[in-house]
Parts: sequence; structure tokens; C-alpha cells
Amino acid sequence: MVPVLQVENLRVHFFLDEGVVRAVDGVSFSLEAGKTLGIVGESGSGKSVIGLSILSIVPAPGRIVDGRILLRVDGTGSEPSQVDLVKLNPSGPEARALRGHDVAMIFQEPMNSFSPVHSIGSQIMEALKLHTDVSRHEARNRAIEMLRKVGIPQPERRIDVYPHELSGGMRQRAMIAMALVCNPRILIADEPTTALDVTVQAQILDLLRSLQEEFGMAILFISHNLGVIAEISHDVLVVYFGRVMEHAPVDVLFSEALHPYTRALLKSVPGIDTPVRNYLATIEGTLPDPSTQIPGCPFFGRCTECEGLTICRDEPYELTKVADHHYLACPRLCIRS
Ligand SMILES: Nc1ncnc2c1ncn2[C@@H]1O[C@H](COP(=O)(O)OP(=O)(O)O)[C@@H](O)[C@H]1O
Ligand SMILES: [Mg+2]
Repeated sequence: MVPVLQVENLRVHFFLDEGVVRAVDGVSFSLEAGKTLGIVGESGSGKSVIGLSILSIVPAPGRIVDGRILLRVDGTGSEPSQVDLVKLNPSGPEARALRGHDVAMIFQEPMNSFSPVHSIGSQIMEALKLHTDVSRHEARNRAIEMLRKVGIPQPERRIDVYPHELSGGMRQRAMIAMALVCNPRILIADEPTTALDVTVQAQILDLLRSLQEEFGMAILFISHNLGVIAEISHDVLVVYFGRVMEHAPVDVLFSEALHPYTRALLKSVPGIDTPVRNYLATIEGTLPDPSTQIPGCPFFGRCTECEGLTICRDEPYELTKVADHHYLACPRLCIRS
């Protein structure tokens, strides 16, 4: 089975006057249709840059310097093929056709996705007309239908309101409607519930789950909050300093996490009965300066389990398979044993 999306050894660097920031430094994963892959890690670990890379919208002075982003293309033949998004000109027609149509993205702050001077309906219709050949009348009907699907009451009336006239939760729903109106195969959700209060957050997660069931899209769900990741993901990628520290199915990650970084993140999650909250993971110490080069494990300086082992400090980064579907980058556990 060819995955909908396959990311191989992705490296994205920002070339700044102060030095090179290796925002994403050799990340690999694949995304299956109808499944959600959660990407979790502290702020600054490279999560958003992974999402932006898939849409070919990494801002300058950032650049994809290595790797492949393979999107499955189901042609007319029996065998699906793959197109490498890294090889496409980001502003060329092919990349633009893929954005929004095959891959769509939603963000923490819907106000940045919507223009304040147009009604939400006209913007959803615009997204639709960009990628499909529909009449104005048909586009309006489809926009209303989509607003209804995302749970906006009285969509026939609400379609004509401006973004600022909606509450935060309703605006987030409208952004989801705009992202999904072209029925993309992949939805990248970058901290979509972080700005919302607990109740609304839970509603949006429910909504994404039911839309996934209905449309079968794959979701890449980015969050710094492991509690939220646990609610929605099938598999989880734990990233730190632009690298994957651990990758496992969600139940394995929550019951048998191996990486000291994952375990530290887990310790900061409230109990299972506590409602999902917007807390920030607190781990002693801070992320290393992003423009430094770290030869060994990037978590070395903060790790409370490695006892300052020299292999942890020096051993080059490598993600190792430790069990079926379970990958780990911890020199102490992978090399010593
Ligand atoms: N436009 C930019 N210019 C320079 N550095 C950037 C830019 N965007 C991101 N970075 C750097 O890339 C790293 C990863 O950032 P990001 O992906 O936004 O982290 P996250 O989403 O996990 O919080 C950080 O060190 C950040 O400073
Ligand atoms: Mg981010």
C-alpha cells in the first residue's frame, strides 16, 4: 500500500546572518489515508516548518536543502505513482494546483487565513473556484453545505458574515470549512485548537474526527500538547531540535514510551480523567540554541536518564527500529543494549 504522503530525510535550514538554523534535520515519516499522525514537541522544535515544507511555503531565508516529500497520485492506471513535491517549483502551476486541492492547512489563528474585508462565504467560494470548475450558484451552495457540515448554525445566513463577526470557535470551524471544501486528501492542522478554550477545543477535535470519517482524509496534526495529540492521533512523532526522537502508535507511546524526552513530556500531561487543557509542557532547561550543531543526542544537556554518558553526547543521531512500528533515537537505549 503506497501511503498518501511519504516524507524522507527532510532537511530545512534557515540561512541567517547569525548562522544556519537546522529547523528540520532529517525527518522521515509516512501518512496513511484516513489516519492521523500527531507531531508533538516543544515550541521551536520544527513542527510548523515540517507542515510548511509539505505545502512548499517555507519562508525565506529558509530552504529545503535535502529530502523527498512524495505525494501519492492516483492516475488512471492501476498502480498509483508518487510525485516529489520538493522538485516542483513552489510558485509554479503544479505546486499551486496541489495546494488546497490535494493538501490543505489550518492554523492556530484563523484571522491570518481569512481576509478581514471579504465575507467568509466569498472566501470559501473563491477557494472552490480556484480548483474546480463550478458556477457561482453551485459554489455558494457547496459553501453553505460545508458550513453546515462543520456545525455552523444557520449557514444560509452566516455565509455572508465577515470573519470578525464570528466567535473564535466559529471562525475555526469556518477555516476548516474553507480547507475542506475541495475535499483534500491531506489536512495539515497546525495547533488548530491551541487558542481555544477547553470545551471548544474538544468540539473541534470531535469535528475533525467525524470529518475524517466522512471524507477519509489523512491528517497531520501538530501540537505542543500531548493531551490533545492523544485525543486525535493514531500514530505519534515526537520531535526535538528538528529531529524525530520517537515514533510509535499512540497507545504504545502512552504506555511504553522509551525516549527520556517523550517520558518527560508525558510527565507533564494531566491524568486521563482531567479534561484536555491548554497547559504547556514544562521540562527543566531549554532547547539548545537552534544555530548550534550538536553531534550527539540534542536532549543530552537536559536528559535526567543518560547520566552524562559519552555515547549520548557523541554518537551521531540515528532513528532505530526497536519493535514493530516503534522507532527510537536514544543512544543509551539503542546502542548500549
Ligand atoms: N522565518 C523564520 N526565520 C528564521 N528562523 C525560523 C523561521 N521560522 C522558523 N524558524 C526557526 O526554525 C525552528 C523551528 O521553528 P518552528 O517549526 O516554527 O517550531 P515549532 O512549530 O515546533 O514551534 C526554530 O528554531 C525557529 O526559530
Ligand atoms: Mg509552530
